[in-house]
Amino acid sequence: MSKKGRVFSGARPTGRQHLGNYLGAIRNYVTMQSQYDCVYCVVDLHALTTMETTRDLKQNTFEMAPDWLAAGIDPKESIVFVQSHVPQVTELYTILSMVSSLGKLTDLPTFKDKVRLQPNNVNLGLVGYPVLMTADIVLYKANFVPVGIDQAPHIEYARETVRSFNYRYNSTALIEPEMVVTTVPKVLGTDGQRKMGKSENNHIELALTPEETQKVVMTMVTDPQRLRRADPGNPDVCNVFSMHKTFSSPEEVEMINTECRRAGIGCVDCKKIYAKNLNANLAPFRERRAAFESNPGAIWDILHDGARRAREIAEATMVEVRAAVGLPE
Ligand code: TYM
Repeated sequence: MSKKGRVFSGARPTGRQHLGNYLGAIRNYVTMQSQYDCVYCVVDLHALTTMETTRDLKQNTFEMAPDWLAAGIDPKESIVFVQSHVPQVTELYTILSMVSSLGKLTDLPTFKDKVRLQPNNVNLGLVGYPVLMTADIVLYKANFVPVGIDQAPHIEYARETVRSFNYRYNSTALIEPEMVVTTVPKVLGTDGQRKMGKSENNHIELALTPEETQKVVMTMVTDPQRLRRADPGNPDVCNVFSMHKTFSSPEEVEMINTECRRAGIGCVDCKKIYAKNLNANLAPFRERRAAFESNPGAIWDILHDGARRAREIAEATMVEVRAAVGLPE
């Protein structure tokens, strides 16, 4: 390892990446590359836990790469790969299951959330989701994990599992990872209430066209107390205003802050400005993305090369893990 340590993160290929993924995680994936050895994974096995059909799985797995590369992930510098291409992760998942408490797993807020979203498909994979995630991280001996705040219970779970494993097998093979968050660790969806996410259908995909973006932005919920154009609004409780802070100039943010409070600007105009600025910010990303997407062969080469590099690290860790557990050679 040449740099200050290793970084691992992953995302489920449930569709194209959205603003929540970008502001909460991808921005850190990109900036951390200069200081750390970074490993970024499209977690297709995790995605299976919530899928009724795998019809779109391959396409969605593919689509993740242009999103990441266009955002600035350099596949020469970092390893970018598909989870199922490194089978060692499922071996480690099985081994870690033996030091995983079922009670703790079913108590996790993230598990309860999934039960709420898919009450008729509470499968074992869903319960073991954080164990597979722990396997992802520790297989690469990652020191840092850039994620949105929603993943905090999973990272804490990973840390506990590492301690349990090292204690049970009197080992130092596994490393406790630390979570790293951005300045916007929880991006709200267009409903202004829940975390932005595909499963909530309140998301804004990065790769939408400017027209599509404007259409979705116009559906965003603003200050719920502001019912009429003439009512003064409260930017402090308005999600559109929060998003302006990320994509609009400080002068525009100040103008909206002042004018909204005295009904000088309406929500429709405020959202139009936001859509315009969001589109302007995303234009270079979209251009780069289109170029990557038009060359699927090159994308699969990047993913296969990443898997080859990832497998080398993974197998080295597994040699230590198998020895620590006492599995026969
Ligand atoms: P996933 O696919 O739900 O999301 C990918 C990344 O985007 C972040 N994120 C958000 N951040 C802020 N606001 C939001 N509205 C928002 N929505 C998503 C997520 O926190 C995440 O960082 N369990 C993970 C995938 C995973 C993983 C791992 C992550 C599997 N193994 C190992 C880190 C390390 C997940 O479902 O992310």
